[in-house]
Amino acid sequence: MIKDRKVSFSGIQPSGNITLGNYVGALRNWPSYQDDYDCVYCVVDEHAITVRQDPAKLRHHALELYAQLIACGIDPEKSILFIQSHVPAHAELAWVLNCFTMFGELSRMTQFKEKSARHADNINAGLFTYPSLMAADILLYQTDIVPVGEDQRQHVELTRDIAQRFNGVYGDVFTLPEAVIPTVGARVMSLQEPDKKMSKSAENENSYILVMDTPDAIMRKFKRAITDSDATVRKSPDKPGVSNLIDIYCAATGMTVEEVERQFEGKGYGEFKPAVGEAVVEFLRPVREETERLMADKGELERLYRQGAEKAAAVAARTLTKVHKKLGFLPR
Ligand code: TYM
Repeated sequence: MIKDRKVSFSGIQPSGNITLGNYVGALRNWPSYQDDYDCVYCVVDEHAITVRQDPAKLRHHALELYAQLIACGIDPEKSILFIQSHVPAHAELAWVLNCFTMFGELSRMTQFKEKSARHADNINAGLFTYPSLMAADILLYQTDIVPVGEDQRQHVELTRDIAQRFNGVYGDVFTLPEAVIPTVGARVMSLQEPDKKMSKSAENENSYILVMDTPDAIMRKFKRAITDSDATVRKSPDKPGVSNLIDIYCAATGMTVEEVERQFEGKGYGEFKPAVGEAVVEFLRPVREETERLMADKGELERLYRQGAEKAAAVAARTLTKVHKKLGFLPR
């Protein structure tokens, strides 16, 4: 396919409210590509059902997430912003790619291992083949870059392997994508167990900050964040809790680690933790307030997501038609 500009694609699951980790690791970086890339961003509801979802909540979260992406700065007129299940080509290409993805490759995926441990009563085939659907998302749009947090690097690398395998048999059908991972905030950790990533599916709500949390909740959670007995504000591998708070403070203020350490030299956690809380409240405030404003006009959001699906379907159909032809499927 001949493209005028390179393509940026990314997706996020509407499996709950989004966290500070999602925002810092991924969402806040997406709008910056809009001037130089053709951007395609997607609420991946089909991925979300690999674990059980309550239908009413899923509907709410998908719409709210769509609004949040706009609130983060994605312009639905400039970028293609849509809901995955509205574009059937994703599920169709995923099937094809399943036939080019190896059992051994899927077995090695960290996210599959973690989720199957957490949902031991529901290790369904969708959870296992999830990376083939993700590869379909990316490859349908002839994507060059995939802005994601560190935890998705492995899935993007597998996507490249699948694309290469397919291209090896049928010629240059897919562009090979590359993960783009931020230098600050690529892996925001849990506030309660700083050896684990901050996740919206964690049980203890003090372990994560939600973009929609009230300022009071944010302050409370940071005050309760796990630190250590050596009360110095210094980044170090043996101080994972404090190191995570320093990284969060850097992400929220744009300061460097050295600047933060200097600012809090000789000061304890009693001063540092509320300062992180306040910085994060101000950092998230515009997104929360804009999301609330957008959610007041659901009709407009529906108009935008329909328009997004139409634009996405037109691009996706070109790739899918080419794939079907290469495979030897009779034309429709
Ligand atoms: P998801 O919905 O879990 O997360 C969305 C984005 O947020 C990033 N992220 C984090 N970054 C830093 N620190 C954290 N604690 C943290 N938690 C999450 C993720 O890396 C991701 O970029 N499989 C994907 C969704 C997906 C996708 C795609 C992404 C489906 N199709 C195609 C890119 C391209 C996922 O589960 O992300």
